[in-house]
Amino acid sequence: MGKNEWDEYAEDWDSNSDVQSYADKAYAQLLKHCDIDGKTILDFGCGTGVLTNRLSEKAQRVVAIDPSTKMIEVLKGKSLPRVFTISNYLSERLINEQPELSNKFDIIVASSVCAFLPNYLEMLTLLKSLLKTNGTFIQWDWLAGNDSSMGLSENTVQQAFKRCQFSDYQLSTPFDMNSPKGTTRVLMAIGKN
Ligand SMILES: C[S@@+](CC[C@H](N)C(=O)[O-])C[C@H]1O[C@@H](n2cnc3c(N)ncnc32)[C@H](O)[C@@H]1O
Repeated sequence: MGKNEWDEYAEDWDSNSDVQSYADKAYAQLLKHCDIDGKTILDFGCGTGVLTNRLSEKAQRVVAIDPSTKMIEVLKGKSLPRVFTISNYLSERLINEQPELSNKFDIIVASSVCAFLPNYLEMLTLLKSLLKTNGTFIQWDWLAGNDSSMGLSENTVQQAFKRCQFSDYQLSTPFDMNSPKGTTRVLMAIGKN
């Protein structure tokens, strides 16, 4: 794969305490809503695997996918047990070619990824197709503010979950992240296939 705009962040990603704290908070929320023991999990847009690492302790298997080869290199360097990495963009074609994507997943997580997708709705449809019946999809993103320069709005996410026909979906803002620039809310959305 060619160079990716996220590659430059890979080396220092794990040493950012906000990144670790975001993953801790997201993971705590996941455990509140899902039993991950012995489950198969797809970590979509896994980056260097800060969340993958936490998931791998209890899951049966985690498939961690990210288009940034540098991010995936850092994750591979961790040699996490029960983790299989894929350095590529997720597509219909990749699903057909990649054996690790041939079995459906109990849970799919996307932590701070969906706001960066060129076509969120299309990707959500593809991700849903990778879930087992009754499987769970969960995402966390910055809640878009009035300037809407980053993150996703509740309306965008709600409409997408509706269009994709997720059942029992719920949106909430379960935690905040603080920085010198202020407080940013994190939007969580969870739905079932
Ligand atoms: C803010 S980072 C989050 C990484 C990781 N999930 C975490 O919690 O630390 C965003 C990630 O989304 C990935 N990404 C960007 N565009 C993507 C796409 N089209 N499909 C999948 N992942 C993408 C980037 O490579 C990057 O690793």
